[in-house]
Amino acid sequence: MNIVVVKNQEEAAEKALELVKAGLEKGSIKTLGLATGSTPLKLYEKMRGANLDCSDVATVNLDEYVGLAPNDPQSYNHYMKTELFDHVKFKETHLPNGVAENLQEECERYEAVLSENPVDLQVLGIGTNAHIGFNEPGTSFDTKTHVVELTESTIESNKVHFEKVEDVPTHAISMGIASIMEAKEIVLLAFGEAKAEAVKQMVNGPVNEGCPASVLQNHANVTIIIDEAAASKL
Ligand code: GLP
Repeated sequence: MNIVVVKNQEEAAEKALELVKAGLEKGSIKTLGLATGSTPLKLYEKMRGANLDCSDVATVNLDEYVGLAPNDPQSYNHYMKTELFDHVKFKETHLPNGVAENLQEECERYEAVLSENPVDLQVLGIGTNAHIGFNEPGTSFDTKTHVVELTESTIESNKVHFEKVEDVPTHAISMGIASIMEAKEIVLLAFGEAKAEAVKQMVNGPVNEGCPASVLQNHANVTIIIDEAAASKL
């Protein structure tokens, strides 16, 4: 794992943008894997201002809440549209559909999308319990796209984006750990004290399913860009 400790989110976003830009310029990024949550917001802000040519690039996102329609302001579909897709034109953009009638079929459809669009660079965040995507502790490393029941700690962490805790969906569709590991390159961002323990377990802990992000120790091309607070337990 290549670990880069930076002063703040601004610097982290700049470093991540450099990786994205380099891949686009070389033509090595044909599919960009994207994440949601607070962590990549600065990166998307910088991408909006970077005059990138993504007209030949597809995107795939990690996850979506079950029960939220794409136009629901709390959905990840809506988040991606307002933060990035309304500003940077991509060839295609893909997210799971959280209101698909048959969720199992939706997972299969999404896995097919991933097979057609193998991820060249995947942007990742990390949950306070070391989840990646919405793969909670205990998820098998073999999992492909699946329906997940969110843990209390994830619901608690994510309630800041909702009016009240009861509004946070209890389930999500998420790319599985095996799907995430198929990306050729991964860039994980993490900021703040609240992520320090998860970062420590991911980098120095044993590789096991109790710590989903620890699987990244098995990936050949991972860069972890973290601020000093998130790095404080390393
Ligand atoms: C959410 C998302 C993840 C994200 C993580 C961290 O639950 N499903 O993709 O990386 O939790 O969120 P945040 O960036 O808001 O701290």
